[in-house]
Amino acid sequence: MLFKGVLTSISLAIAAVTTVVAVPVKKTLEVRDDEGGDQTNGLTDLVAWDTHTLKINGEPLFLFSGEFHYYRLPSPGLWTDIMEKFKALDYNGVSFYFFWGYHSPKKGVYDFTGIRDVQKAFDAAKNTGIHVISRAGPYINAELDSGGFPSWLAQMQSPARKYNPENNAASEEWLTEIDKYMVANQITKGGPIILNQVDNEFSYNTDPKYMEMLKAKFLKDGMEVPTIFNDAGPNGNFAKGPGSVDIYGWDQYPAGFDCSNPLAWPNNRSTTFRDFHERTNGDQPMAIYEFQGGAFDPWGGPGYPECYKMVNEQYAKVYYKNNYAQGVRIQSLYMTYGGTSWGGLPKPTVYTSYDYGAAISEPGLMTTKAYENKLQATFLHTVKPFLTTKHFDPESDKRDIILIDGLADVNTPTKFYIAQHQLTKSEDKDEFHINIKTTDGKFEIPRSSKLILNGRDAKILTTDYAFNSQHLVYSTSEIFTHQDVGSHDVIIVYAYENEEGEFAIKVKKDKSQVETDDDSVKSETSDGILQLTYKHPNGTTPVYISGGTEKELLILVAGYDSALRWWAPYTEEKKGERALIHGPYLVRSAKKDESTIAFTGDIDETTDIQVVLPDGVKFITWNGESVKLTKQDKHGIYTGTLEFKKPDIKFTDLTEATWKYKAASPETDPEFDDSEWVTADHLSTNSTTPYDTQPILYADDYGFHTGCLWFRGKFNGSSEITGFNITAHSGDASAWTAYLNNEYLGGFDVGNHAFTDLNGTKIKADGENVISLLLWTTGHEDDFSADENFKQARGFTQAELLGVYNQTIWSIDWKVQGNLGGEDLADPVRGPYNEGGLYGERNGWHLPGFPDDDWEDVNIPESKNRTGVSWYRTTFDVNIPDGYDVPMSLRYKDDTKTRYRTLLFVNGWNMGRYGNDLGPQTQYYLPKGILNTQGKNTLAIGVVAIDEAAQLGEVVLEPYKVLQAALPEVELVDSPGYDTRQQS
Ligand code: GAL
Repeated sequence: MLFKGVLTSISLAIAAVTTVVAVPVKKTLEVRDDEGGDQTNGLTDLVAWDTHTLKINGEPLFLFSGEFHYYRLPSPGLWTDIMEKFKALDYNGVSFYFFWGYHSPKKGVYDFTGIRDVQKAFDAAKNTGIHVISRAGPYINAELDSGGFPSWLAQMQSPARKYNPENNAASEEWLTEIDKYMVANQITKGGPIILNQVDNEFSYNTDPKYMEMLKAKFLKDGMEVPTIFNDAGPNGNFAKGPGSVDIYGWDQYPAGFDCSNPLAWPNNRSTTFRDFHERTNGDQPMAIYEFQGGAFDPWGGPGYPECYKMVNEQYAKVYYKNNYAQGVRIQSLYMTYGGTSWGGLPKPTVYTSYDYGAAISEPGLMTTKAYENKLQATFLHTVKPFLTTKHFDPESDKRDIILIDGLADVNTPTKFYIAQHQLTKSEDKDEFHINIKTTDGKFEIPRSSKLILNGRDAKILTTDYAFNSQHLVYSTSEIFTHQDVGSHDVIIVYAYENEEGEFAIKVKKDKSQVETDDDSVKSETSDGILQLTYKHPNGTTPVYISGGTEKELLILVAGYDSALRWWAPYTEEKKGERALIHGPYLVRSAKKDESTIAFTGDIDETTDIQVVLPDGVKFITWNGESVKLTKQDKHGIYTGTLEFKKPDIKFTDLTEATWKYKAASPETDPEFDDSEWVTADHLSTNSTTPYDTQPILYADDYGFHTGCLWFRGKFNGSSEITGFNITAHSGDASAWTAYLNNEYLGGFDVGNHAFTDLNGTKIKADGENVISLLLWTTGHEDDFSADENFKQARGFTQAELLGVYNQTIWSIDWKVQGNLGGEDLADPVRGPYNEGGLYGERNGWHLPGFPDDDWEDVNIPESKNRTGVSWYRTTFDVNIPDGYDVPMSLRYKDDTKTRYRTLLFVNGWNMGRYGNDLGPQTQYYLPKGILNTQGKNTLAIGVVAIDEAAQLGEVVLEPYKVLQAALPEVELVDSPGYDTRQQS
């Protein structure tokens, strides 16, 4: 504990000023080196910092964090699964954006229950030992509807993200609610939150008074952890002066978001972070609160496999290591698990899957990039001198093509050399040398082998490094981790297969012996330095050094692919102690007692494993079952096999299932009773979208915010009326269809359409005519630039009759309809983004237990072309035995000729919007918990024909992968049925 006495008096001072909001003064608690001491925000010393790193409970650390959105995985049981995967990859942080709109369907109404229970997200992080960066906005962006704002905020007259009474009150309303959870989950209260972000990327149209208001509110509510800000790039917003935060940082997405040309990287990564940071906030650790971990993909885009290709493991090597070279010591990868923008969560540009090409894929699967991130994170947590370095410019050859950043620890002689191509996208294979200065002398390394960068690679070389009882002079192979196992030490190093490596260690006598089966290993000892050269194998080669070092040393030389499958989970027995295991798909945890290490994890096939057991440990278990081990040598290496037992997985073949069909657009019928609909009679709006005609036909103004919208307009016929002119306004991938007196007039992208020459044909000259417009919306825009963009309308800017001389604004009477209940949700459990205004949605046709007995029996794929909106229902069974993780999906198979859209409801949950004519998504993830994986499920699909008619193609259930897994328990989420809807 740092300076307890000083802190007690600080806390007392704070306690005394609960009503007056005091801006805390940063405190310097301790002077550690010549670069300034530890600082705190004056509210807690549990999270302190110096110029290099954060210090949690006094301990410096590299914060290796990743973004995760609980609302993009609507199954709280799986939050623990994802946190365990973060932990397995050696992340020690997670960044949570909190989504205001997800919790608030209506001004003053908040919900934190069920899938919205944020406490469960905090618990998942805490129970796995992951620190949380809390980011409650109020604005968050994140490719969400309104950038995370609640839909009702669009009705606010005053500008959002600005200091004004109306907006302040709205922001404070949200913060009051979310702060109840955040305050209680801070590290100061025994919880996981260590940093708290204020707004997000508030980098355009900024307002420091607004930032001050938010800070004051957090403070007043009891937030004590340091505040942070995520600038949209290194621009210096809120680093200093009014609105500034405790630890400033920025975000960066160097590859951009166009995944259609994934291998076309930019020429350069940033080499200016260091100078910028020095100038801007050199007294704080360098923080990138979002660094590109993948990319989002738009409707019609190339699809997430391409985004993964763009931001792949090579990208992770080059760009993340460049960040470390620049000095970054707080890094959060956005996204690390992207998940699903189910229902109406996404903003218009993006579709349902938010896989993001992230390290952990949408169904929770590992990728090579995840393993690469593990290699980096484990290194950063193992090799402590890396935390406290200063940059220097080393001597090296090939400087025009190879960039070497030098980092020298300020506390020990350890130095690091980070090598990458000057041209980031270079695919050349180049050999290079570095002149290093160590306490054992100066060397040009490598001394007798080749050091290469093969294309898009970057390497961190470590020199002059005391670890366990050893002293490394240098290694041209990268370090994964090292561990004292009792009688000897173990270090794991790696590079791409067939690359040469050189590893030099100090030895006391020249009598040291090298034992290995690998012929490529050569050794030479001179001047007290034992130098090994070798070729990185396919696999992992043990090399054992005895007789020269204080303790003997086992060097495990791994080829890259083999290194990816090394795991070093903490043993939970001794602080910092790691267990070493090679082979499994995923190792979630390790628990050690005197004789046994109990591992938990997942395998996807029968897997040969290697373990390095510490002295005394003779046994291991895997998911509770003992594993037969064979001793390989006297150095603690054992091998064994984890048997994959093929499970008996069953699920219904949907092409064989009985489906029920019902036509579902009665709204087009002139006789349809819309007397209960809302009359559209507003003459003004707070929307930023200019209107051409009145009344205002913006659904948000009438309390309907999500999904499909119906507008019905009635006018009395006259022979003068030749047609009408309609302009739809909505986001990307929206569409609308128009009907007159039950007749289809066309389906369109948003924009204007004039329906002409209808007099004497479709328009009745006598009596009432009814226009029915169905608008398929895709959410609200975001507010990235703080310019009120989220207030853009969803509806029609223009609706006027043509041919009418002296047309009055009242010539069409309009009514509007959206989701049942509007802001007073008919289904608060599933929440504000689950249902829209289709007739089937309003009448609960998507819900389990809806009586569809009198519907027509059909097969899917459909044999008939159906006009308007159609609904299909069936039930299906899934049986996935315990002990297995088999993430499931539903896939559409159709050609893309017909324009139709669908909504996919599983057990009443809207798990996806599908655009047959748009793509690219055809596969929809159905997370366990929403999906009953051991029983019956209800499937309902609403099909909206944009063309006059549509014929639903094939629909199949499809597993992504079969894992024999230590998946944490996942409870079924509450999925109220049709019966509860009837009672409400
Ligand atoms: C950032 C923003 C995030 C997200 C990301 C792109 O600029 O802070 O919320 O939108 O871009 O996925």
